[in-house]
Amino acid sequence: MKTWFITGASSGFGLILAEKLLAQGDQVVATARKPEALAELSAQSNGNLLIQKLDVNNQSEIDDAIGAAIEKFDKIDVLVNNAGYGMVGTIEEVTDAEVRAQFDTNVFGLLNVTRAALPHMRAAKSGHILNLSSIAGLTSSATFPIYCASKHAVEAISEGLAASVKPFGISVTLIEPGLYRTRFANQTSIRVTENRMSEYDEQMNGTMDWLKEVDGAQPGDPEKAVDAMIAMVNDPNPPLRLLLGPDAWDRAHAKLEALKADFDRNEQITKSAVFN
Ligand SMILES: NC(=O)c1ccc[n+]([C@@H]2O[C@H](COP(=O)([O-])OP(=O)(O)OC[C@H]3O[C@@H](n4cnc5c(N)ncnc54)[C@H](OP(=O)(O)O)[C@@H]3O)[C@@H](O)[C@H]2O)c1
Repeated sequence: MKTWFITGASSGFGLILAEKLLAQGDQVVATARKPEALAELSAQSNGNLLIQKLDVNNQSEIDDAIGAAIEKFDKIDVLVNNAGYGMVGTIEEVTDAEVRAQFDTNVFGLLNVTRAALPHMRAAKSGHILNLSSIAGLTSSATFPIYCASKHAVEAISEGLAASVKPFGISVTLIEPGLYRTRFANQTSIRVTENRMSEYDEQMNGTMDWLKEVDGAQPGDPEKAVDAMIAMVNDPNPPLRLLLGPDAWDRAHAKLEALKADFDRNEQITKSAVFN
């Protein structure tokens, strides 16, 4: 029986994961900004669920939630850094405050929860951290560059983290979904820059129309994504990265090819920029 600690468990991947884990008999610390959103989950549990109020931007809530998890279950086997949202706006439009808020949740929140959980995993000489990145952690776009930047940061953090905690028996896996049918793309979750500029209307209006179209019609099934996350934790040799969805597969492979083409195009210049 494993003990899982999940951030952002009030909806989407986090909620589905909590439900599936409880159903299979695991112990779950389900955390959310609004714990009342987890009332239904509570009805499905029989002593193997702990609900904690946790905004990943709030260090004392992080410390309290990790402390309560250890007090109740003695251990955290799996940390799922799932909480996050998407910021829409071109680089010229987004304000400093909007960028910082995006990084506070998607990057600093993840870092702070991870740092609070690690001493317990190190003491146990085992553990697995699943970090919700995205295909946006490997690619970027005109109207989502700040969200993509935050997920690129999650990629670099996770790669470095994996190397530093391997000697303690702790694994790290980046989960890189494409488009999945949660409420991620709807008005509840997405934040749009308040500094709209008419010069970018064509691009931004295109994105706003696309979001309306895609919301509820994403090809990705979050139930299957969550099954894949659980499978990664059961894998004796888990990967650093897991792409989820054929769209993620295609975009990641197009990026690989673009990177190679860019690197190879100037091989001579690259290699000659040294002292003779
Ligand atoms: N769905 C996709 O297509 C997709 C693709 C790639 C990556 N992802 C990633 O998957 C993760 C989960 O997203 P989802 O698709 O399940 O969307 P979702 O249904 O919108 O869930 C996001 C969760 O994050 C929580 N959250 C946001 N800010 C928070 C904060 N400051 N502190 C604590 N919790 C916070 C939300 O809580 P509230 O209820 O309080 O708002 C919600 O529970 C995100 O990191 C997202 O970037 C999703």
